[in-house]
Amino acid sequence: MNWFRDFLLPKSAASNTGDVDGLFMFISWLTVFFFFFNGGLIWYAVRKWRRRSNNDITPHITHDTKLEVIWSVIPLIVVMFIFFWGFRGYVRAWVVPNDALEIVVTGKKWVWEFEYPDGSRSLNDLHVPLNKPVKLVMHSEDVIHSFFVPAFRIKRDVIPGRYTELWFTATEPGIHQVYCTEYCGRGHSDMLARIFADTPEQYEVFLREGDEQVRKMPLKELGKLVYENKGCATCHSIDGTRGQGPSFKGIYGHELKDAAGKTHTVDANYIRDSILNPQAVVVAGYEPIMPTFQGLLREREILGMIEYIKSLQ
Ligand code: CUA
Repeated sequence: MNWFRDFLLPKSAASNTGDVDGLFMFISWLTVFFFFFNGGLIWYAVRKWRRRSNNDITPHITHDTKLEVIWSVIPLIVVMFIFFWGFRGYVRAWVVPNDALEIVVTGKKWVWEFEYPDGSRSLNDLHVPLNKPVKLVMHSEDVIHSFFVPAFRIKRDVIPGRYTELWFTATEPGIHQVYCTEYCGRGHSDMLARIFADTPEQYEVFLREGDEQVRKMPLKELGKLVYENKGCATCHSIDGTRGQGPSFKGIYGHELKDAAGKTHTVDANYIRDSILNPQAVVVAGYEPIMPTFQGLLREREILGMIEYIKSLQ
């Protein structure tokens, strides 16, 4: 019967997904059973007791105690069974193991930021060691977001002004998709993150040196990757269309005016300052809504961004 589970649920990639999957499949099969059981009873009754002639009068029956007890007690047993099964899974899902690795998650329009125990940070790409419990301490800088990892069967709201928690133990190596599942504005559907379930060696290398690609990629390609993966694309277009922020197309080497009417030339330093201290110069006609990327991008990624914007003529 695994085909039915594989049809309904994504492949499981964490340790305690069994609680969710087992109960989910039990309820699904129960639904299938009662669809045919109830349908069959109706079909049987309609055939057996249909009106056969004009003077075929149905006897007046007010109730049947035995039948009513049966159809009350059996469902009660079934739903109490579901309740205790669900409660067991709920407790396991919310009680975090003491040895869990703690990672701070910040949701903001429209990126996910991750901070590791050693203080290093990453955007939209969360690296975790395989087979080790990981606890996420989550909060939001602006509106309500929601952190959803289908392959881990976990989801929880990320709220401004308070911490919420999730935990998991990744068991499948590879990349697992994260979605934002609380509508949070224009970039909501782009608010995607990926969880990299690393071997202990890969995780060490990540903490020490950052991603392989950041070190080796040509700058322009790296800039494109940063543009697509680190949230730039949600506000800045590359084809000249107006977004929440100015388009990147053809701005390099040109002048623009800030809100006070002062002129600035878009060069490498201007781009760098705009990434690290975006509120310092806000282009006329736009809202000062961009968050700072200070500490979130490596030097090489900023250089990549500059090369990429330069290429968009
Ligand atoms: Cu963040 Cu939707």
